[in-house]
Amino acid sequence: MNQHPLCHVAGLGQALPGAPISNAELIRRYGLESTPEWIETRTGIRQRFFVGPGETTATLAAAAAQQALVQAKLAPSQVGAVVVATCTPDYTFPSVATLVQAALGLPVGIPALDVNAACSGFIAALSVAQGWFATQPGLEAVLVIGAETFSNVLDFTDRSTCVLFGDGAGAMVLRRNRPGQTNGLLALAQGADGRQAGLLHSAHGVARGRVAGTVQMDGAAVFKHAVRQMGDQAQVAALLAQSGHTLADLAWLVPHQANARILAAAGEALGLAAERVVMTVAEHANTSAASIPLALATAQQQGQFQPGELVLLQAFGAGFTWGMASLRW
Ligand code: UT7
Repeated sequence: MNQHPLCHVAGLGQALPGAPISNAELIRRYGLESTPEWIETRTGIRQRFFVGPGETTATLAAAAAQQALVQAKLAPSQVGAVVVATCTPDYTFPSVATLVQAALGLPVGIPALDVNAACSGFIAALSVAQGWFATQPGLEAVLVIGAETFSNVLDFTDRSTCVLFGDGAGAMVLRRNRPGQTNGLLALAQGADGRQAGLLHSAHGVARGRVAGTVQMDGAAVFKHAVRQMGDQAQVAALLAQSGHTLADLAWLVPHQANARILAAAGEALGLAAERVVMTVAEHANTSAASIPLALATAQQQGQFQPGELVLLQAFGAGFTWGMASLRW
């Protein structure tokens, strides 16, 4: 049983570009046949942020990381590795992580790489970080970032998808635990079902048309799969059991912010009161791999997590892919 986590959250940061764009403004800007009420009642989304000139996934990632380092009281020179979860990178290569490394002046020679598991990418990035802590005894601190600019892959003539997504980045500094320290990352689980790739995908890619395609989604089908996967009590119970916990011990659910109705259903299925489910989808919309660290940073700013509380992170996204992580705060 894992009662001694390898690492803990030492700092969180977030970056949201420009001014918020309300539902009404989005509808007006793109001439959508929709209403602010439809968007808010069907998704919970009230606004989103889109990058402007000169802003990219890497600039957002670097800004969020800088904040997280300040909170962790860590200098860039003390970072031992950086991993970025994104499916909207600046370039096909090099990775966003290497751009962040250069922008922040992180040490030359440290590992820096991206992972792509779409909306569940942040959990994948956490598992990469966990693996580094497990295999590199000298490693003291890792930057884990989720960053996306989905506005670059939205089809603004498709009202069923373009209203759902936003841009942003969230960052977490993980530090190695001292002997006996009991807070931190307890357990992780991930999965995928590639047979469902067609239900939520980008229409092109470098090897399929030499351009990044826009988002295509069968929303109703994705909705059902997301609710079933995120509300799967047995999988959550198995994860929590790894650290000797049960569902009753859970203080907070921090889900991927896709749709308020999906999040409410997931919380209910796990027996959590609505106020124990962190919801930022109204303010941020769906920021894919950035949504969990953004939600964590927001909840922490609002003073929501108390030391010792058990927190479950849960994500579902294109692939399909999914993942969970439990933390003792
Ligand atoms: O990160 C993981 C990936 N994303 C998700 O998890 C999203 C999952 N899916 C959803 O959130 C929801 O399925 C949507 C928000 C996409 C759609 O909500 P819904 O309650 O499933 O709507 P619906 O599919 O039952 O209704 C669709 C109707 C259609 O009209 P008809 O065919 O019934 O006449 C759409 O054309 O709503 C229409 N519609 C809209 N109407 C006004 C779709 N988008 C809009 C819109 N404004 N923006």
